[in-house]
Amino acid sequence: MLSARNITKSFNTDGNVVPVLKEVSVDVGQGEFVSIVGRSGSGKSTLMNVLSTLVRPDDGELHYHEDNLSALSDKKLNKLRQSDFSVIFQFHHLLPYLTVLENTLLPFMQSMKPVHKSSVEKAHECLARVGLADKADRLPGNLSGGEQQRVAIARALVKSSKVLFADEPTGSLDKETGGQIMELLSELHGEGLSVVMVTHDPVYAKRAQRIIHIEDGVIV
Ligand SMILES: Nc1ncnc2c1ncn2[C@@H]1O[C@H](COP(=O)(O)OP(=O)(O)OP(=O)(O)O)[C@@H](O)[C@H]1O
Ligand SMILES: [Mg+2]
Repeated sequence: MLSARNITKSFNTDGNVVPVLKEVSVDVGQGEFVSIVGRSGSGKSTLMNVLSTLVRPDDGELHYHEDNLSALSDKKLNKLRQSDFSVIFQFHHLLPYLTVLENTLLPFMQSMKPVHKSSVEKAHECLARVGLADKADRLPGNLSGGEQQRVAIARALVKSSKVLFADEPTGSLDKETGGQIMELLSELHGEGLSVVMVTHDPVYAKRAQRIIHIEDGVIV
């Protein structure tokens, strides 16, 4: 379904070009659940951002079904991302001046049109799914780190998509809440969603059907 071939990505820091992904090739099958593991700084988030089309690679090709994403315009990529991909970021990026419910509704707020009632119902449903039904009207600043992370997860679930990219979705959660989130991801996978998850936790990594190890920008 998703196929990355010989992806390279470097970052320019203080005038030095630092290679972060070195000829990385990865495939994700339709309906597959893969996890990406590796040490801090090995390139996991960068790979995730390339796969979810948020970052364009310097070189290499990315295919999604029959589309060559490397050849698509930013506008077409945005459209594809909106319709097919959901992303849970490592750092959750909630907007501090919007309530929990409004943050969850963000994927529907891309135009000036009012949000449909059914979307609001879906948002409440997703908040309930992550255990935040009673906190819909709070501001993120009044939530714990783990609760904020769960809002970010609800936001990723609110629109139906085909692939979920989750970068350390349990990173700031205690064991019990992390376990619940993993249950939720497994459930979504069971419902047909393809899942690509970065994790530091070897137990959670094993929930996936396949584990991709990355070391210093190379799949090992
Ligand atoms: N925008 C950027 N500009 C410069 N360097 C960057 C940028 N993004 C990432 N890097 C560097 O690329 C390397 C890989 O970063 P990345 O975030 O992909 O690692 P990671 O495997 O996700 O680490 P962690 O487990 O700590 O989240 C790091 O050395 C990081 O400093
Ligand atoms: Mg990371």
